[in-house]
Amino acid sequence: MFDPQFFDQKHIQENSTVALTVFAVGRYLDAYLTTFLTSAEQHFMLGLPVTYYVFTDLPDRVPNISLAPQRHLKVVPVVKHSRWQDVSMMRMKTISDTIESELRHHFRYVFCFDVDQEFKGRFGSEALGDSVALLHAHFYKSQERKFTYDRNPKSKAFIATGDFYYHAAIFGGTWANVKHLADACYLNIMLDKQSNVEALWHDESHLNKYFLIHKPSRLLSPEYCWDLSIGHEPDIRIIRLKWAPKHYEKLRT
Ligand code: UDP
Ligand code: GAL
Ligand code: MN
Repeated sequence: MFDPQFFDQKHIQENSTVALTVFAVGRYLDAYLTTFLTSAEQHFMLGLPVTYYVFTDLPDRVPNISLAPQRHLKVVPVVKHSRWQDVSMMRMKTISDTIESELRHHFRYVFCFDVDQEFKGRFGSEALGDSVALLHAHFYKSQERKFTYDRNPKSKAFIATGDFYYHAAIFGGTWANVKHLADACYLNIMLDKQSNVEALWHDESHLNKYFLIHKPSRLLSPEYCWDLSIGHEPDIRIIRLKWAPKHYEKLRT
């Protein structure tokens, strides 16, 4: 569906640079980070300068991964919010702050990832774009009324009628667009807190509201974040990244 060399050449000529943000807080670090990073070194944006920004409350436990040339890793200490919902939602604030203080000066693109996933195939420069969203593997074929949007009119994430259901495990774009997205989602998360409501799927609900209004310019296939438990699906030709097993009872606090 695309010529990988076309995109690679274009982005090498344009000197594209990519920052990947990933949070590994609490028990998620030992459970997922090594697999995430080592598999990213095999498949993520090979040939382009990439810097991983690992946000964690356990900086000493970040594994020492050997990185290819032009690839770097920075560890950024963060506080651990006591509720897992806040660990997830407050990423938006940290992403925005880090773009403002650092990423905007060094990278054209910012890609934000959940840590509970493993790269399995090429996840390359074809995925870069001004504003990039991912179709959620469970909903890319379902009807709008099945989407798990937030349906509480008191929440800023409320959607009455939408079009797509996006997965918050991956989003990206130019640093300016990702900052705009993170600021909008964080503001709405905080307004919800003032109203004593929490959106059904936390940051993902707010992300869906954002992309409903500000359409992404590039839409990634669920090939880019596939749940193997769905089983055989002829639409999915290449699994580029897969969900890692979830162990909520053991990992969340
Ligand atoms: N996360 C973390 N520690 C936690 C909870 C969440 O590091 O205690 C981060 C981690 O990057 C994780 C993301 O927040 O992938 C979103 O949480 P999770 O993957 O559990 O949500 P799900 O994808 O299951 O909705
Ligand atoms: C689940 C997924 C959650 C969230 C939810 C939305 O399958 O594990 O992270 O995306 O779908 O309905
Ligand atoms: Mn996840």
